[in-house]
Amino acid sequence: MIFRQLFDRESSTYSYLLGDERTREALLIDPVVDSTEQNLALLEQLGLTLKLAVDTHTHADHITGLGALRERTGCATMMGSQSLANCLSETFADGDQLTVGDIKLEVLYTPGHTDDSYSFYLPRTDGGMLFSGDTLLIRGSGRTDFQNGSAEQQYQSLFNRLLQLPENTAVYPGHDYKGWLVSSIGEEKRHNPRLQVADQHAYISLMSALKLPNPKLMDIAVPANQSCGAVS
Ligand SMILES: [Fe+2]
Repeated sequence: MIFRQLFDRESSTYSYLLGDERTREALLIDPVVDSTEQNLALLEQLGLTLKLAVDTHTHADHITGLGALRERTGCATMMGSQSLANCLSETFADGDQLTVGDIKLEVLYTPGHTDDSYSFYLPRTDGGMLFSGDTLLIRGSGRTDFQNGSAEQQYQSLFNRLLQLPENTAVYPGHDYKGWLVSSIGEEKRHNPRLQVADQHAYISLMSALKLPNPKLMDIAVPANQSCGAVS
């Protein structure tokens, strides 16, 4: 598999390109609109055809590249069935599989950061890869205080779903603000401060004590992302 981790410096967002070597078909996870030209150039340089672009959830801090990529390449665009985006080719739900060439990603519904938050898991014999969106960050977890977020649901998503994956699963998050690139489920279980809580109640208290300011772009990004990145 061809794999590239891409970074948007403005919003500290990671996007991921997964390409199938046999069919030369590719998938982009969480593309940022400002990186559309760069992403298209990279696809061309690697000899890949973009088949599918997906968002893990409705982002509040950057504008999605889904609409622009679909316009330029004719790729399919998908988000979870809870998403309010009005411009998707299809939606996915828990237990679905996203297939691009020989790449098969398992769809995990992991609400909590938002009510449309999903993670994608690629099982592999040498330890799989988890694209955890903003549900599980490296040494952190996505905030749960807006967009129908819920610390209770996030606790369930983390402890009952993501942390049940094999310990050597590589964790690729939706953002990082400190320069981390990749972690593993085992490493996060042991060293992520948000995961050292005794129970769900303690997790809810921890999350409600955060008191974070709203993202700069929130009032622009959320409506734009409900139309796949079109800014009115
Ligand atoms: Fe987010």
